[in-house]
Formats: sequence, structure tokens, C-alpha cells
Amino acid sequence: FKEELVEGNELKFKKFDNIFLPGLVRNLSSIKSLELRPDDTFVVGYPKSGTTWVEEIVWLLQNNLDFQKSLKEDHFERVYFIDMGLSKGKIKHFKEMNTTRVFKSHLPIKHLPDNVEKLSKIVYVVRNPKDMLVSYFHFSRALLLSNFSGSFDLFVRHFFNNKLWYGSWWEQVKEYKNIPHVHFVQYEELLERPIETIESLAGFLGKSYSIEDIEKLINFTSIDKMKTYSSFNFEGVFRDEENVSLKFNFFRKGQIGNWVEYFNEEQSKKVDQVVNEHFQGVIDFKFFPS
Ligand code: A3P
Repeated sequence: FKEELVEGNELKFKKFDNIFLPGLVRNLSSIKSLELRPDDTFVVGYPKSGTTWVEEIVWLLQNNLDFQKSLKEDHFERVYFIDMGLSKGKIKHFKEMNTTRVFKSHLPIKHLPDNVEKLSKIVYVVRNPKDMLVSYFHFSRALLLSNFSGSFDLFVRHFFNNKLWYGSWWEQVKEYKNIPHVHFVQYEELLERPIETIESLAGFLGKSYSIEDIEKLINFTSIDKMKTYSSFNFEGVFRDEENVSLKFNFFRKGQIGNWVEYFNEEQSKKVDQVVNEHFQGVIDFKFFPS
């Protein structure tokens, strides 16, 4: 695992295979050899697309809507962020685990376990790139690991130059879109048509729940509720602002269309161009709430 630490005045990167990665991505080769099971579920997405939200929904769907356990056990204990690599201890833990395993990743498929798309299940989360970028910008400024203190304009330039963590957004979305059997969940659809979106996701996982149960699940995973759960513990992850009102909340806004407060016309048009070039007729990104 060859790595090069590029520590500019912007984001702190580890460059691997021509992709910029955050420092906590380790030991990628250890991931490849994970022995897969048919009910293993990988929730993948470019950062800030709503991956954590979908992970929680997937975990609950896979665990009989066990809300009590969800509240009791740390989310990142229940859903392992596999990009951090698999130590010997973790490999043993996953071997012995007798419930359905749910993993999170932001990586290109070539770094996930071999044949994952055939042997297990992949749920890919996608969000309109303008809202994703605003979310990513705030996240990078708040994250201790990142060291980014630049402007939104600089951040958008990093996006076009593939200099954000996990590289090119459009290449990643296209890659997963082209893999058969990957189930796409669109952030905007989940917000606007939660029942249908979750029914379809449950179907993909081989589960079936009543409308009442799905409504309970939607309620339980609303952003206002999730904000209050101690099972989402981000202690030590973000800068501790003295002014409490500035303190970063991982569950920031959870909306469609927040981008209009950040993008100028030129930036917005450039993103539209990328979307038209790569996704016209393939994915309908919803930039505004309908
Ligand atoms: P915003 O910063 O726009 O609010 P990820 O989990 O991939 O890092 O994505 C984080 C984004 O998903 C943040 O977006 C966060 O607020 C949003 N999010 C998290 N939980 C959510 C929920 N329950 N409902 C709606 N949005 C949610």
C-alpha cells in the first residue's frame, strides 16, 4: 500500500492509485479478502450524499426494526466503515458475527471485497451534486482530520480538479451505475417519497414490512430525531468551536436546495454541464424541492 501524504494548506490527503483519500483509510488490501455472505450489505456513496442516513435505514430493515438496539449500540459499531481496513481482530469479529453484516464505504468498487456485486448486496446512495458539495464544504471545514479552511469557491475548484477525498464524483457515480444489481437510493427521493423508496429498498434486501412499520421507520430516522441519538457519537471528530452556536452538527440541514445560497451562476452552470455530460437520461438529479 503505497501512499503519499499531500499536506497542502487545504485538505489533508493520502494519494493512492491517483485518488485522494483521507488519512483514516488504511490497509486497503485487507478489505479485498473479506469472506462474503449473501446477506452482507454494503452501503456505498460519495461523501455527504446521505450515506449515514441510508446505513441506519438499511441496518434497521436488516434487523427487524430493532429500534431499541439501534438506540443502545453505537451506529459505527453496528455499521462498520470498511475503508478503515480490517485488522485481525475485526476479521475475527466479522467471522463470528451471527447477524446480518452491514458495511459502509466511499471507495471505488475495485477496493471492495472481490466479487462483492455478485456475492452480496450493494446499495449506492446518490445526491444532487450541488447539495452534496455544500454539505461536503461544511464538513471539511469542521473536520479535525481535514485542515481545510478555504473558501467555497476553492472547494468547488477542488471538485472539478478531482481533489476532494475519494476523487471524481461523476466517475464514481457512473462506475456504480454501470454495475448490474447495484440498488440506487437517491437522497431526494428518500426525502420526498420515503414510503415508496424504502419499500423498494426493503424489496432489494429481500424484506417486506407493512406501511405502518415503514412509517415508524421514517419517523425514527427523521433528521430531527437522529440528531438527538447518542448512538451517533462524533466526539473528537470535529473542531470544538468556543461559540456553541457555531458548533458543527453532523446532521446539519438535511434539505434539498440549500445550494442556492452558495453557488454563483458560473459554478452552477459548470455542475449542470457535468451532469448533462455524464447523466442525461440516466439519473434525474432533483436540484429543487418539488
Ligand atoms: P447536509 O449537510 O446537507 O445537512 P453523509 O452521511 O453521506 O456524510 O451525508 C451527510 C448529509 O446527510 C448531511 O447533509 C446530513 O444532514 C444529511 N442527513 C443525515 N441524516 C439525515 C436524515 N435523517 N434526513 C435527512 N438528511 C440527513
